[in-house]
Parts: sequence; C-alpha cells; structure tokens
Amino acid sequence: MKTPAMPMLDRILFTEEEIRKRVKEVAAEISERYQDGNLKMVGVLKGSVFFMTALARELTIPVKVDFLAISSFSNHSGSPGVVRIAKDLDESIEGEDILLVEDIVDTGFTARYLMQTLAGRGPNSIAVCTMLDRSSRRIVPLRIDFRCFEIPDRFVIGCGLDYKQLYRNLNFIGVLKPDK
Ligand code: IMP
Ligand code: MG
Repeated sequence: MKTPAMPMLDRILFTEEEIRKRVKEVAAEISERYQDGNLKMVGVLKGSVFFMTALARELTIPVKVDFLAISSFSNHSGSPGVVRIAKDLDESIEGEDILLVEDIVDTGFTARYLMQTLAGRGPNSIAVCTMLDRSSRRIVPLRIDFRCFEIPDRFVIGCGLDYKQLYRNLNFIGVLKPDK
C-alpha cells in the first residue's frame, strides 16, 4: 500500500527505506548472536507478522518460525489488563533459543507475560526483539534484547500495527491524528 490520501495520518515517523535499513542492522546483530545457536523466532499474531518476515529474510543463519496469538485487554488509552494465549505455538520450544518478536512494546504487560509463559517450557534461552519500543509508557520492567526504534508517546500505525484492524499493510510507520 503506497502513501494514500489518509486524513487520519498526522505524520510519517519512519519511511520504508529507514525501516528496511534498520531491520537489516538488527538482523545482522541477531545473526551474530545466534550463529552457534538453535534459533526459533516466535511471532505474536497479528501485529508482528510483517516485521518478523522482513527480519527473518535478512538473517544469515538458519531459523525456525512459529506463531501464537493473544487476547489482550491492554490498549494505548485504556488500562492494561489480562493477557491470555488465544492460539498457542504449534511445536515445543524445549532446548531451543527463542526470540520473541513483537511489533511494539508499550506497557510491557504482553511481552512479560509471554516471556514468563515461554520460559516455563524449557527453552535453552529466551530473548525479546521488538520493532518499536515506547519505553516512556513502560509499567512492568522488561529487558529488550533487540530493538529497531524507540518512539515517542503517540499512537502509531503501519508495518503490522493497526488502528481498528486497519493500516497494518502500510510500508511506513505513521502517527495517527490525536483525536483518533
Ligand atoms: P503492551 O502489553 O502494553 O506492551 O502492549 C503491546 C500491544 O499493544 C502491542 O503488541 C500492540 O498490539 C498494541 N499497541 C500498543 N501501542 C500501539 C500503537 O501505537 N499502535 C498499534 N498498536 C499498539
Ligand atoms: Mg502486538
């Protein structure tokens, strides 16, 4: 989807080019870190799919992929709440080096819940990679191992991130107008 007439778009935060460059850099870090490992990327549906596939294609090491889906009552404007797994991984992660791939870490509730859950399944190691980090809104402490961009406290869309399920397919990351 190209830059269309989008009245709800305030401004572009990161262009397709900037994102591609940064994804390559982070993929290089991951390839380096896991060169002797047994890497499996775990993506969180649906938001992280776009970022995860872009990242996986830039890796220079073998990688497995799996996905899970969550239902979360945490959102940007409301209070963070319960997270639960709505669709689990297809396969065991025992003995594997797990990289949880997120579109955005905001309060940290979702990522921390998933990290704790996955850690209980006997992986060899577990780490977090997020496309966007809005650390100013963090409520639960969380170590981020790999991140593409730190962002300001504004609601963003594109590259997997939605507003009412729309705009995930934008190839840039944009800020939604404040009244949205
Ligand atoms: P957390 O549990 O507060 O860290 O929430 C993270 C989840 O909230 C993300 O995986 C997104 O699904 C959603 N989210 C948080 N901020 C935004 C945003 O600016 N745009 C779209 N989705 C968001
Ligand atoms: Mg998400």
